[in-house]
Amino acid sequence: MIEQPAYTVEPWRIRECELSLETLAQSESVFALSNGHLGLRGNLDEGEPHGLPGTYLNSVFELAPLPYAEAGYGYPECDQAAINVTNGKLLRLLVNDEPFDVRYGDLLTHERILDLRAGTLSRRAEWISPAGCPLHLRSTRLVSLTQRAVAAIEYEVEAVDQPMRAVVQSELVANESLPDPGRDPRVAHRLESPLQPEEDSLTETGAVLVHRTRHSGLRVAAAMSHVIEGPDGTATELESAPDIGRLTVATRLEPGQRLRMVKFIAYGWSGERSRPAVHDQVVAALAAARLSGWDGLLADQRAFLDHFWEGADVEVDGDSEVQQAVRFALFHILQAGARAEHRPIAAKGLTGTGYDGHTFWDTETFVLPVLTYTRPDATADALTWRHRTLPSARDRAAQLGLEGAAFPWRTIGGEECSGYWPTSTAAFHIGADIADAVVRYVDATGDEEFEREVGLELLTETARLWRSLGQHDTEGRFRIDGVTGPDEYTAIADNNVYTNLMAQRNLVAAAETACRYPELAGRFGVTNEETAGWRDAAAAMHVPYDERLGVHPQSEGFTDHARWDFAATGPDQYPLLLHFPYFDLYRKQVVKQADLVLALHLRGDAFTPEQKARDFAYYERLTVRDSSLSACTQAVLAAEVGQLELAHDYVGEAALMDLHDLEHNTRDGLHLAALAGTWIALVAGLGGMRCFDGGLAFAPRVPSGITRLAFRMRYRGRCLRAEVTHDSAVYTLLSGAPLSLSHHGQEFSLGREPVERPVPAATPGPRPSQPAGREPARRRTATQVR
Ligand code: BGC
Repeated sequence: MIEQPAYTVEPWRIRECELSLETLAQSESVFALSNGHLGLRGNLDEGEPHGLPGTYLNSVFELAPLPYAEAGYGYPECDQAAINVTNGKLLRLLVNDEPFDVRYGDLLTHERILDLRAGTLSRRAEWISPAGCPLHLRSTRLVSLTQRAVAAIEYEVEAVDQPMRAVVQSELVANESLPDPGRDPRVAHRLESPLQPEEDSLTETGAVLVHRTRHSGLRVAAAMSHVIEGPDGTATELESAPDIGRLTVATRLEPGQRLRMVKFIAYGWSGERSRPAVHDQVVAALAAARLSGWDGLLADQRAFLDHFWEGADVEVDGDSEVQQAVRFALFHILQAGARAEHRPIAAKGLTGTGYDGHTFWDTETFVLPVLTYTRPDATADALTWRHRTLPSARDRAAQLGLEGAAFPWRTIGGEECSGYWPTSTAAFHIGADIADAVVRYVDATGDEEFEREVGLELLTETARLWRSLGQHDTEGRFRIDGVTGPDEYTAIADNNVYTNLMAQRNLVAAAETACRYPELAGRFGVTNEETAGWRDAAAAMHVPYDERLGVHPQSEGFTDHARWDFAATGPDQYPLLLHFPYFDLYRKQVVKQADLVLALHLRGDAFTPEQKARDFAYYERLTVRDSSLSACTQAVLAAEVGQLELAHDYVGEAALMDLHDLEHNTRDGLHLAALAGTWIALVAGLGGMRCFDGGLAFAPRVPSGITRLAFRMRYRGRCLRAEVTHDSAVYTLLSGAPLSLSHHGQEFSLGREPVERPVPAATPGPRPSQPAGREPARRRTATQVR
């Protein structure tokens, strides 16, 4: 666990003032840099010590068999696991006769800063070697958001009060040995030496390595090139072997003298292109990076981020930890999606190999809502990737005896990679989650080209799946039986409310979109009869209700089950999945993560305010939050039902998931859904942002511990800002044409002049309770702040 305070609390930076070897693996995730195509964990420049060395390329994976003790029909046979590709960030340093290694000698100071506006990770160290030679070291690293194949490192060594010999070995290393991942099922496979060498060659200032994965047959090239500034007599040497490319720079530094190097690194990969083609691609990328130069790359990075923050920044007064965390979250969400370009966004982004680098529903339900309103083209790209995987999803549906497309629960390349069908194959809601992301994106951008080329077909194929998976019963109700909703502590249940309501939206959206583009829909084989069937199913969708308790059962029969014995469950028995058998979890009322409550958020239009308050209170008592995806949704509903202090507590939990390592597994990679959830909890929660009937609505209210919340967002070619205090909300149109908005249910039009509206007081009932020991940590309230 990350010891507090590990990082100083500052609005725009994550600063670690001392190096903690115990939490090195966690800080490697926190300090990861990525652009969605290339990801570098925040490993130390010299490579050792490390928690987990990591360099990732989006969609570069190796295949591994999925073993079953008792296999069955339709079980996926093959896993796809993200691999650690060639490490280009290594810069080893030898001082006189000793390697610079923070475990030896005296580390006088060591500071690392992730700068959220510059988009860089910088490091400063003052060190005295075991033999007594002092030095200063500085490095700054970036993964370019503007040149997606490129990373660069500025590295400086300075002699302090005595002359020294310094040798820097700048390397590309393939097939690094990796630590044992342990036995947590949520961690990755370890694949030994996944890269087979194809080429190692030298260039004038660096080297190129080309490898190929053994089973997936993907070709990966990495190249490096250097600019060196050192005193006269500085000598360089280049060498390469199958798994290594090395530039050695040797110099003598007088006190105050420096050796400065800029290392440019480029990556490329392909499943199709030849070795020379991939080789040339990375050499060309390096040439472009050199043309920009270090200063040019830095300036472009800043400009890219300035543009992002203009339409995305969130300000939080009164809770400085949440202020820092939401910017940290937005930065990582941007990094995960910015340049993914028709590739998936994994649950951990490119920050670690947790969950084998797989993509889940996390992307469409948590990450894309944030990108849709802050960097919409990244959402279009991610959904275009889903669209490209339609052939696999159709095959899977056919294998399951269904129509349309059954998207995989977890995957990299589009094929199902989960070996546990009760919470994967049966979690059909992923189809509706993808449809929901399509509907939201189209509404927020009006992007008709996307709707025609990507959206319509995704909606059509997912609607077909629902139509064939469900059936009208003898009373005419449309039922979807035997599925698993978001809560993975209940499986294979009938009429999961979340699934049914999301399927309903999916069916309606498919029918409406097909009507807007009849000719195109006709090409997909859609007939009037088929759309009528979708509408009928949607209109008759069964949503179970427990009249006795006056709440919605999460799925049929759920409220009849025995309650989990929370009093007999010790604090060290969470997460329950690691301590209790699934069969027992499945037959009791215990909720891993928001499920019915997520329906209250995403299909809030299907519930009355009274139902929301009752349902929310009921599920609070049962929800243990064994998934990092839960707190943000609970924040949204707590805010909606007027439980503002509870909402604030959940905002804090989502926000600090990784900065405080709340689930003790940040080492395996960041929790992108929880990071995205920080924004969702603030904007949809405290800001009350909803978009149900084609209009943008807000119902903001801030808890006592937050004195001011302001957020920016992009919407239909405009940039908006909302600023909320305890008394009023001010809406400003920063750019674009006037539009209609709603504030606490009242419409108004926003033009050039800002519009101010009073914030009505909340009238909450008693604070709902949570299972003993699972209450969220309390944030400070106004009285404590004073
Ligand atoms: C959650 C899933 C989620 C997965 C990946 C699991 O613990 O229950 O909803 O998709 O983690 O984040």
